[in-house]
Amino acid sequence: MCGIVGFVGYEGDALPFLLEGLKRLEYRGYDSAGIALAQPGRIAVSKAQGKLAVLEQSLQSMPQGIPCGIGHTRWATHGRPTDENAHPHTDCQGVIAVAHNGIIENFQELRDELEASGHQFRSETDTEVIPHLLEVYGGADDLVAAVRQAEKRLKGAYAFLAISAQKPDIIVAVRRSSPLVVGLGEGVNYVASDVSAFLAHTRQAQVLENGDLAVISPGRIQVTDAHGHKRNPKTLTVDWDIRQAERGGYEHFMLKEIMEQPDVWSDCLLSRIHEDKVVVGEMGLTAKLLEGIHRIQVVAAGTAYHAGLVGKALIERLARVPVDVSVASEFRYQEPVLDPGTLVMAISQSGETADTLASMHMAQDEGFPVYSIVNTVGSTLARDSNYVGYTHAGPEIAVASTKAYTTQLLVLTMVALALAENRGRARPDLVRSLLALPKAGQKVLEDLEHIQEMAARLAEHSDVFYIGRGIDYALAMEGQLKIKEIAYIHAEAYAAGEMKHGTLALIEEGTPVVAIVTERAVAEKSISNILEVKARGAEVWAILDNKLGRRVPVDHVLPVPVPDPLLVPVLAALPLQLLAYWTAVTRGQDVDQPRNLAKSVTVE
Ligand code: F6R
Repeated sequence: MCGIVGFVGYEGDALPFLLEGLKRLEYRGYDSAGIALAQPGRIAVSKAQGKLAVLEQSLQSMPQGIPCGIGHTRWATHGRPTDENAHPHTDCQGVIAVAHNGIIENFQELRDELEASGHQFRSETDTEVIPHLLEVYGGADDLVAAVRQAEKRLKGAYAFLAISAQKPDIIVAVRRSSPLVVGLGEGVNYVASDVSAFLAHTRQAQVLENGDLAVISPGRIQVTDAHGHKRNPKTLTVDWDIRQAERGGYEHFMLKEIMEQPDVWSDCLLSRIHEDKVVVGEMGLTAKLLEGIHRIQVVAAGTAYHAGLVGKALIERLARVPVDVSVASEFRYQEPVLDPGTLVMAISQSGETADTLASMHMAQDEGFPVYSIVNTVGSTLARDSNYVGYTHAGPEIAVASTKAYTTQLLVLTMVALALAENRGRARPDLVRSLLALPKAGQKVLEDLEHIQEMAARLAEHSDVFYIGRGIDYALAMEGQLKIKEIAYIHAEAYAAGEMKHGTLALIEEGTPVVAIVTERAVAEKSISNILEVKARGAEVWAILDNKLGRRVPVDHVLPVPVPDPLLVPVLAALPLQLLAYWTAVTRGQDVDQPRNLAKSVTVE
């Protein structure tokens, strides 16, 4: 996720603060960075691909003692991580600069219009339309009025800061979804994506709300809301330490990443649904490609493999296209037989997993196209695959994957719906319901406050079974991986109906079983399997379709709403993730950095 900082003082030097602020935001993940200073008559910009140490070297040529500037760490979404694509971006005259976080949905249409009227673009980013629009609306002379005008033209979820060389004593800040916080100093004010950037200088902060526009000058903050009405945000005193602030106040990155999922889902769905249809182009697909697909071969590892298993069920049920799912480390050595018309689908958060990359290259060598579902823009997988659908989950810092998994599920759901539509099996009802998932996810998270006690009980055990049928079985596989990797509890996922063919022998008084029942068509069968383990003394934690109410005799109930069984996996993943998280916390484990594991597995 990109990081933004700004500094505006009566006097002083913005440059060291901006660099320090960007360092504080490094934890958010980035692949390039830059700084712009507003001198009277001229904007000075320095930006570089790579880490801040690279940027730091080029800062020596920047003017010193300038008290107004903005800085940015970029995590690529539109355009590769390069010097040119790094922020801040400027207008044609180099008198306006903008740093931006989020996505401008209609950037292509705006760019076409601006280029047609003579504006020269220097990057591939969506961001660059903003300084050019500000130029059109007279931003060099009246930055505030220009921002108000430009804002009316922008669609998407974003936040940005703008400065002008003609008015080098203000920063204009806009928040539409992506967070922004103002820090209040003495004769100087700060603004940033989160408080960690300025906490070493002030603990007094004002949080901007969605739709706010703030004019930040050294002695004053003027905020107006989405309707242009004056707003007086409350001033808060932040008592977090800096590490806590980086995690948004949460104890671990994993918990932060679990809790931010509803927002992340909105980013993932953004611009991809229009009039009850999936926008195929926004998924990195083409109608021609969809038409030619006779079979899909998924390759992935770990959690991404589990997402592929859910994807198989969705694609086969909705589009009736057969799907095989392979663990990448197996696929590459299996001498797989791929029929003509097979699309290989590689799923990966990092885009750097060695086995997944090798599987992709092997398929391409045999002439098969590869569609990757990937989170990291500019990664090898994203660069080398033939088609790319981004998950837009933002950087995932905890080793255990959470938000990357659920956004992979969302992308797979949209691919399944696009394929279904292409085959005359459109499901506009499901496409529409997808948009309600972020709100439903928020409610599920609110209702799970009591999960800590249930996890404390599970933490006493050293073995646990996860059971389910159909999609619930695929979810069970992800649930058992989560608890293994962060709580170090041995866990096994079983197809619920398969237990009685041997494994039931291991169920005895007190054996913990996590059961998932959201698949309505087989709910009665799953309930029978729960009764079988209960009859042998198992203690059961159940993630249950909330319509089943108290009918299922289990020990601990975690209800989830089921808008449609095909849409429920992202919602059911939330209790699975939180159960593993709190179990690990109760056992005192290092949740974010579990032993023996790495975030990106670049070796075989
Ligand atoms: C588990 C986890 C791993 C990854 C796997 C693949 O929580 O994170 O199982 O899913 O190493 O990584 P990516 O998705 O980067 O290819």
